[in-house]
Order: sequence, then structure tokens, then C-alpha cells
Amino acid sequence: MGMSWAYGAPNNEESHRVLERALELGVNHWDTADLYGAGANEVLLAPILAKHRDKVFLATKFGNVYDRSLTSHQDLVEQNAGWIVDGTPRYLRARCEDSLRRLGVDAIDLYYQHRVDPRVPIEETWGEMKRLVEEGKVRNLGISEASAESLRKAHAVHPVAAIQSEYSLWTRDPEAEILPTCRELGIKFVAYSPLGRGFLTGTIQSVDDLPQEDWRRSNPRFQEEALAENLRIADKVKEVAARHGASPAQVALAWLLAEGEYIVPIPGTKRVKYLEDNAGAASVELSSDDIAMLNSIQPPVGTRYPEAMMGTLNR
Ligand SMILES: NC(=O)c1ccc[n+]([C@@H]2O[C@H](COP(=O)([O-])OP(=O)(O)OC[C@H]3O[C@@H](n4cnc5c(N)ncnc54)[C@H](OP(=O)(O)O)[C@@H]3O)[C@@H](O)[C@H]2O)c1
Repeated sequence: MGMSWAYGAPNNEESHRVLERALELGVNHWDTADLYGAGANEVLLAPILAKHRDKVFLATKFGNVYDRSLTSHQDLVEQNAGWIVDGTPRYLRARCEDSLRRLGVDAIDLYYQHRVDPRVPIEETWGEMKRLVEEGKVRNLGISEASAESLRKAHAVHPVAAIQSEYSLWTRDPEAEILPTCRELGIKFVAYSPLGRGFLTGTIQSVDDLPQEDWRRSNPRFQEEALAENLRIADKVKEVAARHGASPAQVALAWLLAEGEYIVPIPGTKRVKYLEDNAGAASVELSSDDIAMLNSIQPPVGTRYPEAMMGTLNR
């Protein structure tokens, strides 16, 4: 996502180096969405996929409308200028074709419903997604930021391979209902923003550390006062990292990896040095003392999305 959107200016050349290096390191679970740069992130991946398609496990998503002229819910466009979700069969079929074309591939390994559309019964959305599997355009199905109830309903239509939701040391919402449901139904949990959108690495000490056009400037946790308060969280991660001679990013990822194989963290970066650092997390082993210390971190100040976007979660 951050290579094309939301976290400062894109640098496509460096991003291509990151992608090539990722494959050398065996980092082959690649996550994109049609939303990221309105298709630009899928286009960015295409030349690398053209060379290495068989080495990549490719995930993309539909559902967050990136071009308002595409939505079948005209009234939604008018009512909610900020965030539009479309789960109609006609819409998702067209978006799948768009993604295949932009990525330059015959099939997507994991196709996610990015957000649940409350206007469309999930069985209808998933009925069409299942047809995409039957037609060979898509190999596995996933869902993002859904409630446990929607997860179960989707799973009844077609096995859910993975749910992708925000999960990290400062966003522990999935622990209450979603993780137990995943364990019960044998669904993988893909943890997005596992570095707390960069905050847990300790590199963001003030709003001034973020580029002017950065989306995080609108995120409540990154507002000046909240951010100053939240630094205690990054400091705690740093403290555990120092015990291991590891980086804070590695500790934030190792904490997720320690929970079991069904959790798949997907950190994002547009720099080779951060990619290499993050890949090193696989060899950091936290002790039970470290984990207890990290688990004792109190929740942050501020919600994880601006108010208008919070309504699209857990539906
Ligand atoms: N399903 C959804 O709704 C949803 C929402 C958000 C994200 N996602 C997915 O999850 C992926 C990861 O999430 P994310 O990018 O938001 O969050 P993240 O991995 O928690 O954080 C990314 C940020 O951390 C920085 N960073 C990465 N590695 C670092 C390191 N070792 N040391 C210091 N800083 C480091 C990056 O900097 P640079 O950018 O400068 O490299 C970037 O600013 C996205 O690419 C996207 O595919 C999904």
C-alpha cells in the first residue's frame, strides 16, 4: 500500500528493488488492493510479476470504491462523500477483471472483500466470489475487517482462507472474537499494519516526522497530543528490542509470530533496508518475560481510523 499511496511520495524504482529483494529473501506473500493509488499499486507489481509470477503468492482486494463513477450505489456516493463500499456482484466481477488486467495475471491467489457492504447480504457477495473461484480467476477467498458474524456467514458460502484485519501491539481488537473464530474454523489471520503504521518502530516521534501529504496526519493516534502520549508504547518496544540486540520493528513482528502459525503479519515498506530488517524478525525469539511485558502495554490514545472510517469496520 505504502509504495503507491497513503505514506508519502511513491518511489517506483526503489519499490521495484524492494520487490526483487523480497523474493531473494523468500518474502513472497504480496498484498495489494485496487484501492491503493486507484490501481497504481497493482500496476507497480505487474512488471515484477511478469518475470516471477510462480514465486509470488498474490493477494488483492475489492470493495472500497476508488472511483466514484464505478459504484452501483449512487445514493451512497451522495450520502457518504468520504468512504464508499460496494459489495454487489456486478461491481465485484468488474473489479476482479480490472485487477487481473492491471496485474497482468490469469488468476489471483487470494481475493479479499476489503470491507463488508451492509446494503448487500454477504451471501450475495460471496456467492459471486465463489463463482470467480469456479471460473479459475481467483484461487482463494478472504475478507477484511469483518465481524465474527459476517466471517461465519461468508465461510458457510465458501471456505474463508484468510481474514485480514489490523492487529499489532497497539491494536488488539481481533483478540476478543475474531482470533478465537479463526482457530475454531481453521482460518488464517493476516495481520495488517503490524508495525502500527510505522509508529511501533520508534521512528515517528512527532507529527513533523510525517510527510505533508501523509494519510497518517488524519489518523487520531498521530495527532500531536495523542502521539506524544503514545510514545510510551514505542519506548516499551524499544526496551524489549535492546535486550535482544534487535530492532523495535523486529520485536513488534516477533510478538505476532509468537502467537502461532495461523497469524501472518504483512509489514509494508518502500525501502530495502526496512525490508531486510523486517525479514530478520523471523529469527528473533521472545521469552515469556518479554511477551508478558509487551502484553502489559496499555491501549493507545486515539481510535485507529478517523471517525468517518470507523463505521466501515466490524460489519
Ligand atoms: N485490509 C486493510 O484494510 C489494510 C489497511 C492498511 C494496510 N493494509 C495492508 O497491510 C500492509 C502493511 O500495513 P502498513 O503499511 O499500513 O503498516 P506497517 O507495516 O505497520 O507500517 C508501515 C510503515 O512502517 C515503516 N517501516 C516499515 N518497516 C520498518 C522498519 N523496519 N523500521 C522502521 N520503519 C519501518 C514504513 O516506512 P516506509 O514507507 O518509509 O518504508 C511505513 O511507513 C499494507 O501494505 C497493505 O497491503 C491493509
